[in-house]
Amino acid sequence: MRAAVLREVGRPMAIEEVTLAEPRPGEALVRIVGTGVCHSDYHVIKGEWASPLPIVLGHEASGVVEAVGAGVTQARPGDHVVLSFAPNCGQCVDCVAGQPHLCSAYLTVPGGGLLDGTSRLSRGGETIAMFGKMASFAEYAVVAGASLIPIRRDVPLAKAALIGCAVMTGVGAALNTARIEAGSTVLVVGCGGVGLNCIQGARLASAARIIAVDVADDKLAFARRFGATDVVNSRRDDPVAAARALTGGRGVDYALEAIGLKATIEQCYHAVRRGGTAVVVGMAADGVEAAIPARALAGQEKTLKGCFYGSTRPRIDMPRLLDFYADGRLLLDELVTRTYPLERINEAFDDLGRGGVGRGLLLPHGET
Ligand SMILES: NC(=O)c1ccc[n+]([C@@H]2O[C@H](COP(=O)([O-])OP(=O)(O)OC[C@H]3O[C@@H](n4cnc5c(N)ncnc54)[C@H](O)[C@@H]3O)[C@@H](O)[C@H]2O)c1
Ligand SMILES: [Zn+2]
Ligand SMILES: [Zn+2]
Repeated sequence: MRAAVLREVGRPMAIEEVTLAEPRPGEALVRIVGTGVCHSDYHVIKGEWASPLPIVLGHEASGVVEAVGAGVTQARPGDHVVLSFAPNCGQCVDCVAGQPHLCSAYLTVPGGGLLDGTSRLSRGGETIAMFGKMASFAEYAVVAGASLIPIRRDVPLAKAALIGCAVMTGVGAALNTARIEAGSTVLVVGCGGVGLNCIQGARLASAARIIAVDVADDKLAFARRFGATDVVNSRRDDPVAAARALTGGRGVDYALEAIGLKATIEQCYHAVRRGGTAVVVGMAADGVEAAIPARALAGQEKTLKGCFYGSTRPRIDMPRLLDFYADGRLLLDELVTRTYPLERINEAFDDLGRGGVGRGLLLPHGET
């Protein structure tokens, strides 16, 4: 099959003919219908996250189950699925405690392969690593059965790919991680695929005021569409001062960071009121540290939280998000501003880097 292979950081990916092994027991073969272009893949491309090479990236995907290995109970051939990049075991302490996204069985497996640590991708005897337990920048993927999240068949399957990362992470950050209360004030810093979904998560939570921050005016126009009541271009205005000014000097109840930079993480911390909560959703480059005033953390009783994958319980939250979409409450069509065939993957990442898109969507088998 064809897949986009990254052989060197900072270099374009090439479409190569690669070998995808059969699914082993507990795994499934999925025909990839849509796969989104996320900044997490881009961190690897730019060399900001250490990674095995060569690798096939892609961790936000939807498709049709083609075949299942022995013991797969999560879906059947023919099912429409969104893929979870955090396939959880269902039995460890974290899973049983209701935090499947922090499953110790999955999180202790080194990157580059599936749950047994090995990759199903190769070319002429050379192993090719798989990103996000998925490697969806390809025509097909072999994934853990636990990655299969069956979804309703009456929603557009390609676009449903975005539920697999950006939508789940952003909406989940607002609803599950921050648990935004109705009537509260919210700051969202960074209005890319993840940040726009933090904004619509805050809207779904009935936040009274949603202040969006970005450095690009076109992103701020998107932000208004997704529910922002106020926008701040941080190239022109200081977002912390703006957040205070818009909340009568108090600071916001919640601030969500969706970029992964030291400066914007610190902005979010400073923008929240005494007793407020700052949530870091953006994932920084390796080695980055942020500085927090230590005494004020206690004295002002602020909460600083991380958010992985929108604190998702994939089997509950992902189908629910598609119900919200079918009910007209969740914007998904508006997010997909451009689609690309697999051959144009490098262009899709250039667009992500330039900031010209809500979310780019690759269609490995073309329009369906
Ligand atoms: N926590 C998780 O589980 C999780 C899941 C998915 C993605 N992520 C991370 O979330 C981050 C965002 O991903 P994305 O795909 O939305 O990226 P993106 O590139 O689509 O969006 C980033 C946005 O930030 C804006 N921006 C850049 N620098 C800025 C600054 N200094 N001030 C204000 N705005 C600025 C850009 O204009 C852009 O709109 C990445 O770090 C990604 O790795 C985390
Ligand atoms: Zn992602
Ligand atoms: Zn587990």
